[in-house]
Amino acid sequence: MHPLTLTWRGAVAAAIGAATVGLRAGPTTPAAPAKPAPVAATASDTLREPPTLHSVSRVPGVVEVELTAAPARLRLLPGGPLVNVYAYNGSIPGPTLDVHEGDSVVIHFHNRLPDTTTVHCHGLHFPAAEDGSPLMPIAPGQSYDYAFRVPRGWAGTYWYHPHVDRKTTFQVAMGLFGAIIIRAPHDPLAARHIPEKLLVLSDNRFDSAGAIAFPDPTSVQAEIDLENGREGNVLFVNGQVMPTIPIRRGQVQLWRIVNASASRVYRLSLTNQPLVHVGSDGGLFEHPLEEHDLLLANSGRVEVLVRGTGAAGSEAVLQDLPYDRYMPQTRPDDWDSTRTLLSLRATGTPMVRPVAIPTELRAIPPIDTTHVAAHRVIVMSQGLIDGKRMDMHRVDIRARLGTTEIWEIQNVVGMDHPFHLHGFHFQVLDRDGVSEPYRSWQDLINVPKHSSVRIVVHFDDFPGEWMYHCHILDHEDEGMMGILELTN
Ligand code: C2O
Ligand code: CU
Ligand code: CU
Repeated sequence: MHPLTLTWRGAVAAAIGAATVGLRAGPTTPAAPAKPAPVAATASDTLREPPTLHSVSRVPGVVEVELTAAPARLRLLPGGPLVNVYAYNGSIPGPTLDVHEGDSVVIHFHNRLPDTTTVHCHGLHFPAAEDGSPLMPIAPGQSYDYAFRVPRGWAGTYWYHPHVDRKTTFQVAMGLFGAIIIRAPHDPLAARHIPEKLLVLSDNRFDSAGAIAFPDPTSVQAEIDLENGREGNVLFVNGQVMPTIPIRRGQVQLWRIVNASASRVYRLSLTNQPLVHVGSDGGLFEHPLEEHDLLLANSGRVEVLVRGTGAAGSEAVLQDLPYDRYMPQTRPDDWDSTRTLLSLRATGTPMVRPVAIPTELRAIPPIDTTHVAAHRVIVMSQGLIDGKRMDMHRVDIRARLGTTEIWEIQNVVGMDHPFHLHGFHFQVLDRDGVSEPYRSWQDLINVPKHSSVRIVVHFDDFPGEWMYHCHILDHEDEGMMGILELTN
């Protein structure tokens, strides 16, 4: 089937069926198609990357961009109808901010939404006033210039999204998310001319007419969403359903993967080869690691190398394998099904000289723990951090600039909670007492049900108030968030 030959209803059903609808029957659950149609309808579309934000500055090292959030009508499902969305500069995902370490960045942001919003550059290290946290709302019709210097050593894959009090899930579901790439002056992968692809993973839930669906707030489904986080019934890569990435035999590609889903946790695996894991939230590791599958929790990023191994015409599939992050009472019935994200298709003549993967990527010095100013325990329970809901007028943790702290993040309930800290990268020391086998820079760590993780963080700069929270966006909206105040 070709997408153009499908009616949009057929296409909606095909796309929804392909993603295997997993929601429990609730009063407002969209009716699942009786027989899911195959998604082959769209499998021939080559992966497109989001547009790049164009800098209006001619000054070297200065990046000045315009970003507008506004309602729009876009076609989200292949062959589907135009539906109401929110979009950054008219596209979903929003345009990519592609910058270098040391750049001075100004984002001239305009809020043309009917809602208050913010732009939070997730994972960046800059003055608190630029953080786009719920403490700095931008009212409808208002503009704000987010201005900051891209820190050195911060090269990696990031993203931006709204972070407004209680409406983050809604605004992200409506289409507000985009990637950020920070490049280093010396990059061992770029030095080998390894081509790269950006993959922004998102999911969304559609009703049978193809519109973005939210449950009636009084429904059972709304309660289930609060518990699990709202998961979609269609999975997208850069806004496409099951696109194709062509690769030459012997070629190596770098995939920068962002989990922009509000609550879906991905367990990524390629059907014909291990993933060569080279980086996470804060950029490259010291050495590549081969892994069968990779857990990518909400807001997290992974950088992986993928090889063209098959004969011309052969295909491998990037899958989302089952992962049980749920409470048994609200676990979706189809939690254990495997979903497909994209197809990797071997093409053309082989590379003359296959690219060698470097074994040394960069040095990550361990954070010095000889002087730890505070050891803290942070307890995540269902909807609460340390037994409290977020209060914008309450500081939960006070810490000093220039100090190092160790936080033990305990998850005392039966579902996973991915923990995120704004403004700073941390290193994971251990999980349930087991030392982390390698070092990385993280701004997110998934804390599985009934487990604990110890992280170490150094507060080198930037006084002010910083959020820490569960990155299941429904949980964050419900107040599973706290405020860290850094003072001199
Ligand atoms: Cu993705 Cu509080 O952030
Ligand atoms: Cu963040
Ligand atoms: Cu949570």
